[in-house]
Amino acid sequence: MSDKKFILSIDQGTTSSRAIVFDSKGTSLAVSQEEFPQIFPNDGWVEHDPETIWSSTLNVCTRALKDAKKQGIRVATIGITNQRETTVVWDKSTGKPIYNAIVWQDRRTADFCAQLKSDGLEKQVTAKTGLLLDPYFSATKISWILDNVEGARVKAERGELAFGTIDSFLLWRLTGGKEHATDVTNASRTMIFDIHKLSWDEELLKIFNIPASMLPQVKECAAEFGLTDPSVFGSSIPVQGIAGDQQAASFGQTCFEPGDIKSTYGTGCFVLLNTGEKPLTSKNRLLTTIGYRVNGKTAYAIEGAIFMSGAAVQWLRDGLKIIQSASETEALAKSIPDNKGVYLVPAFTGLGAPYWNPHARGAIYGLTRDSGPAEITRATLEAVCYQTRDLFQAMTDDGMTPNALRVDGGMVANNWVMQFLSDTLNLEVNRPAVAETTALGAAYLAGLQHGIYASLDDIKKNWSLDHCFEPQMPAETRDKNLQGWDQAIKRTCLQ
Ligand code: G3P
Repeated sequence: MSDKKFILSIDQGTTSSRAIVFDSKGTSLAVSQEEFPQIFPNDGWVEHDPETIWSSTLNVCTRALKDAKKQGIRVATIGITNQRETTVVWDKSTGKPIYNAIVWQDRRTADFCAQLKSDGLEKQVTAKTGLLLDPYFSATKISWILDNVEGARVKAERGELAFGTIDSFLLWRLTGGKEHATDVTNASRTMIFDIHKLSWDEELLKIFNIPASMLPQVKECAAEFGLTDPSVFGSSIPVQGIAGDQQAASFGQTCFEPGDIKSTYGTGCFVLLNTGEKPLTSKNRLLTTIGYRVNGKTAYAIEGAIFMSGAAVQWLRDGLKIIQSASETEALAKSIPDNKGVYLVPAFTGLGAPYWNPHARGAIYGLTRDSGPAEITRATLEAVCYQTRDLFQAMTDDGMTPNALRVDGGMVANNWVMQFLSDTLNLEVNRPAVAETTALGAAYLAGLQHGIYASLDDIKKNWSLDHCFEPQMPAETRDKNLQGWDQAIKRTCLQ
């Protein structure tokens, strides 16, 4: 392993764009981050302006590279990781998007999905893609844009439009429109990609009415994705790693062995369990997805996706305005001895796994005259842990019982949440020394392709533990909490 090569990792997330320069040991040497606006044009709709995604990405990269340069560091390679499923359609000749990015949380295609389900198509879709017929994934978002933007379908049929998830859109812009590509993990979230054959699927393209000419070329996660155009950063740098953010986090956590499992607490919460070279099918509505593909080998994963974790805390701050910053939540949660029977179900954009209810909406139960910011904050944090337990329950019912969990993402800095998570799961929860595992995973992929790392074993040596949380809660308290949660979920799904 060479110590002297540096990697720029671009992490384009749901609420912010980040750029981090890493050395080969995974130490971050320069960081820049920029939040950007969320657009909510209608109930259940969520959009981003692709130009803001691009400009914020460019800003953070430029700042991180400048900072690195001051330290005498030159970046050798770039890795990209991104919010998955979010859909952009742009004009191939101008590079201009024809509509806002439709974000993964967006529910506008719920009726279209319900129609396809009642046509009996879910089995076929799941068999090929590992996904369920839900608005979460890209396919119905692409169809919506083609059907609702004037002239779009005709243009698409003439081969004039390109579709991409965010990685693909950024790659197009970074390479000055030369490269239209993506990686297998992002492709595996579109619902038009066969995860067994590793190719776009003609039957699915027909079902969703999407012309094949719009699609990017699909590569392994560590591959030659192209050179940045000199106009972007002043010199050409190779892009050599791409993975969707949850897969990148799993790679950054070095979950390389079957049975390795991680949970990331960002905007949402996503649990990925490495199942090895064979894709497993869940009987409990978890997803089958591609974990990574490097050196010709695919590692599959079972995934549980929860739509709201950090976003619910953001709602406490920006919506309810009962906190000023996320860091206040730990003290508020600790300030009361228990939840006092208050449960919050953060189904703001429906419920993901294992419920998959796009029409459910958020609810708070058990309020009394003395309920206040502490109770609501605690209920919000507890909900993150209860939802993780629902995913673990589904995994256990599928015959997969993990014996420890690796965690990452902004919320894992909150010791109270991590202890409550360990108590609720009745499981060891391991927080790594580097919490930036999403960006780190993309850096590892680029570094692997560039030859900075010789193998996955080489990368594995970088993982180290910051803290191990062990269950401490009496079983009867855990059971009482979970009973309250199960009731709250039932009532929410019946709304
Ligand atoms: O599937 C959506 C996911 O990729 C979004 O991740 O980190 O922006 O919550 P994050």
